[in-house]
Amino acid sequence: MAIKPPLNELAQWQDFTAAVRACAPQSGQLDLIEAPGLTLDSSGQRNCAELLNTGLQLLQAQGFEQARARLLGGAIINCTEQRPAWHSLLRDPDLASKGASQGVLSADAKELCTQVLAERERLDAFVRNADAERRWRNVVHIGIGGSDWGVRLAVAAFGYAGTWRDVRFVANIDGHAIEGGLAGIDPRDTLVVMVSKSFSTNETLQNGARAREWLTAAGLDAGQHMVAVTARPQAALAWGINPAHVFQIWDWVGGRYSIWSATSLSTALVVGSDVLAGMRMGAAAMDEHFANAPLTQNAPVRMALAGVVNRSVLGYGSLNIAPYDSRLANLVPYVQQLDMESLGKSVDLHGRAVGVPTGPAVWGMPGTDAQHTFFQWLHQGSDGAPVDFIVCRRADHRWPSHHRQLLANCLAQREALIKGKSSTTALAECATQGMDAASAAALAPHRVHAGGRPNHLIVLPRLTPYSLGALIALYEHRVFTQAVIWGINPFDQWGVEFGKGLADDIFARISSDNHLTTDQAHHHAKDAPATNDAHDASTCHWIERLGHQD
Ligand code: F6P
Repeated sequence: MAIKPPLNELAQWQDFTAAVRACAPQSGQLDLIEAPGLTLDSSGQRNCAELLNTGLQLLQAQGFEQARARLLGGAIINCTEQRPAWHSLLRDPDLASKGASQGVLSADAKELCTQVLAERERLDAFVRNADAERRWRNVVHIGIGGSDWGVRLAVAAFGYAGTWRDVRFVANIDGHAIEGGLAGIDPRDTLVVMVSKSFSTNETLQNGARAREWLTAAGLDAGQHMVAVTARPQAALAWGINPAHVFQIWDWVGGRYSIWSATSLSTALVVGSDVLAGMRMGAAAMDEHFANAPLTQNAPVRMALAGVVNRSVLGYGSLNIAPYDSRLANLVPYVQQLDMESLGKSVDLHGRAVGVPTGPAVWGMPGTDAQHTFFQWLHQGSDGAPVDFIVCRRADHRWPSHHRQLLANCLAQREALIKGKSSTTALAECATQGMDAASAAALAPHRVHAGGRPNHLIVLPRLTPYSLGALIALYEHRVFTQAVIWGINPFDQWGVEFGKGLADDIFARISSDNHLTTDQAHHHAKDAPATNDAHDASTCHWIERLGHQD
């Protein structure tokens, strides 16, 4: 198969960027896309017909439809790790029939369906028994990154008003995290859930070891109080987890795409297995929409095109996530990892420089907190950033007026970004407030809003497991589609390894006695061969200063 030229050399890319630049920031036309579990309003994005036409041609030139079919069909699409990225299988409603089907899937794929179903039933049974026996009043969830944020997101979304089980999250290697995680709870009624796809992540193994010591010190058989979720069951068994307490995930599911799997055991224990089942249903419905909706009415595809417009053509360096629902505070770090660990790449599938800006920095905070934190920057800062506003039509608390105010603030902030405020309007405003001409002229420029700032509004009918599952799958497929346009692999994360390797060496140095003298440090840095294993002078300095504390 002929290798396509880099993106920025494609004629379709030139046409697309020209169409974007010729398109007004917002058309003023209502641009709604109905999708399972939510409505996407793209009226706040550039959406001229020519932009969409050239966007579709660009998708075709980049082989989008084939790539989408390969993703959803379980083909080896993660080319640098030679694996499928088949997270959609974990929420496939036809698993049982597919597993038993004649001929539809390969034997391997059918076997996977059977395994996924069996493991899901094992997990549900484990939770059912724990509930029936009213066991494990405390859950200590130990995991980091993709083995952590999904559980935090679901538990905060559906357990905000209190749950029978208390859950503690321990991710960081900072000892204060495990100390706080174990403080004040009764080990006799505690289940420690270690989640690590690789079962080699230092933070999770170290924190797991501290938890095991804590259980043992309480005179308990730690094996009865610990479970592990991993794609390397042998490693968990070797570490000392009871075979009955090892739950499987698979290497063909990325950590940051694994919320649908046993990674969410703690979610099922704390807010119920039905929450997980509901989330899978919503995500499966979004998979169906992504697979079949016409591209101009396909929510993930439209969000992806807007994302590429804002990042690679208009040059916005970041994307702001603004969930107007305090229960969705963890959606921000969840999408941060999903987006930045997937799209934070500079080389394409062929190892060439992409040549255009790719994954933006993702940041955010729930509204209305964010309004009183950084919305000044979003409204009047020199850069600004595209914003994804997310809101639920109906609340679950008993104060309708609070919810109406929340909705009003969300729509108002969005309209201010779209509409802006001209100097004429600002001047008139000052005059209306009784200012004299000179004061008004002096102040008005400070009250001008540029407007035309891109944003999406995503409206959920209500925050349910179904709508949350659909929302997460929307982001997963938006990320995938952007990766196809940029020609990058969204399913690996080679960049995280370098720092881990350096940390291992520095840890050895600050833990050992063969520490370098300052002179040696300078000598070491100055004369060290130009390889990457020599620490720089500053690092050597602080290894000396920060080492040997115990
Ligand atoms: O270091 C990054 C990363 O590998 C993420 O991709 C992953 O979600 C996280 O660490 C945890 O990895 P594991 O589940 O293997 O412990």
